[in-house]
Amino acid sequence: MLNNKGFGVGILGIGSKVPDKVLSNADLEKMVDTSDEWIMKRTGISERRVLDKNIPTYQLGAEAAKVAIADAGMTPEDIDLIIVATETPDYNTPSSACLIQKSIGAKRAAAFDLNAACAGFMYSLTVAKQFIETGFNGYKNILVVGCEGLSKATDYEDRATCILFGDGAGAMVVGKVEEGYGILAANIGADGNEGHNITLPCFSISEEDIRVREHENKRVLWMNGSEVFKFAVKVMESATLKVLDDVNMKLEDVDLIVPHQANTRIIDGAIKRLGVSIDKVCVNLQKYGNMSSASIPFALDEAVREGRVKKGDNLVMVGFGGGLTWGSVLIKWSK
Ligand code: ACO
Repeated sequence: MLNNKGFGVGILGIGSKVPDKVLSNADLEKMVDTSDEWIMKRTGISERRVLDKNIPTYQLGAEAAKVAIADAGMTPEDIDLIIVATETPDYNTPSSACLIQKSIGAKRAAAFDLNAACAGFMYSLTVAKQFIETGFNGYKNILVVGCEGLSKATDYEDRATCILFGDGAGAMVVGKVEEGYGILAANIGADGNEGHNITLPCFSISEEDIRVREHENKRVLWMNGSEVFKFAVKVMESATLKVLDDVNMKLEDVDLIVPHQANTRIIDGAIKRLGVSIDKVCVNLQKYGNMSSASIPFALDEAVREGRVKKGDNLVMVGFGGGLTWGSVLIKWSK
C-alpha cells in the first residue's frame, strides 16, 4: 500500500519495560488449585511480571517511551502526539497518554488513549500512520505506547484467568521513512457480537448490573477461554493473510511474524494453519504471559535487541483481543 507521497511511515525508535517482580507458576500453585504442569501444557507460560500495587501503571509506559524516543535519536519535545493503547488505565481521566506526556516532559504533544484490548497496539499504529500520511497539523513524530497493568484487574482466586496475565509496556516512535519502507499494509476489525466473551467492567456498570451477570460479580477481567481460543486461531490466520493480500505479497516473503503473546497453543494453531515454521515467529510469552496491548511491541523490541531484525525485513505483527477485536500490520523494517 504505497501512499504515493514520496515517503513511507515506519518505526523510528522502539523500547520496552517490565516490572522486576516475577510471579512464577510455583507462586500461583500456592494461590489457586493449579500446577506448573497444567499451566505449561495448556498455555506455555512459566512466569510473568507484576507491578507493585502502589506503582501506577503509566510509569511502565513512560519508561518504555523514554527508551523508544532515545532510540529514535530524539528528545520528548520532538513528539507531536502520544497514543496509548491500554485496557487497564490508572484513571479514566487523566488518560494514560496525558500522564505519560507529563512524566516524560513531551510538552508539545497532544495525547489520547485508545482501547482495543490486546489488539490496541495494532489499532494505534494504524491511527498513527494516518496522521503522518495526511500531514495533519504538520505532525512528524508520534509516540505509540502499549501499557498494561493487568495484575490490578486480575482475580487471583480465578485459576482460569490469573495464570495468564502479566504487566508491561512497549513503545515505538512512528514517523516518515524512506519510500517503499515502513508500514506496507494495516488491517483492523471488530466483532462486538462476541464481546461478552471477555469482560472487564467499568464504573458506569452498576453493582446490580454486575450481579445479574453471574461471571461479572467482581470488577475484574473475566473470559470464556475456549471461545476466545477458537476465535483467536482463526483470526490470527485471516488477519495475517489480509495484509499480505493487500500488497500482493506471500507468506514466503515474510521474514518474521510477531503475534500477540496469549498462549503457545494459539500461536501453534495459527502457524500450522498458515504453514509457517516456528523459526519465523517471535514467542516470548514463557517469561511474560499475556501483556495485552504491550505484548506485540515488547516481543518486537526483544527481537530487535537480539539482532533478529534487519533493514528490509518484512514483518507481520498480528493481534486479537477483547471487544472482540483484531489487527495486523505488515511493515518493511527501515532501521
Ligand atoms: N489449573 C488447573 N486446571 C484449570 C486451570 C488451571 N489454572 N484453569 C482451568 N482449569 C480446568 C478447568 O476448570 C476445566 O476443568 P473441568 O474440565 O473439570 O471443567 C479444565 O481445566 C479445562 O478448562 P478449559 O477452560 O477448557 O481449558 P483450555 O484448554 O481451554 O485452556 C485457557 C484455558 C488457557 C484460558 C485457553 O482457553 C486460552 O488460552 N484461551 C484464550 C485466552 C486468550 O488468548 N485471551 C486473549 C484475550 S485476553 C484480553 O483481551 C486481555
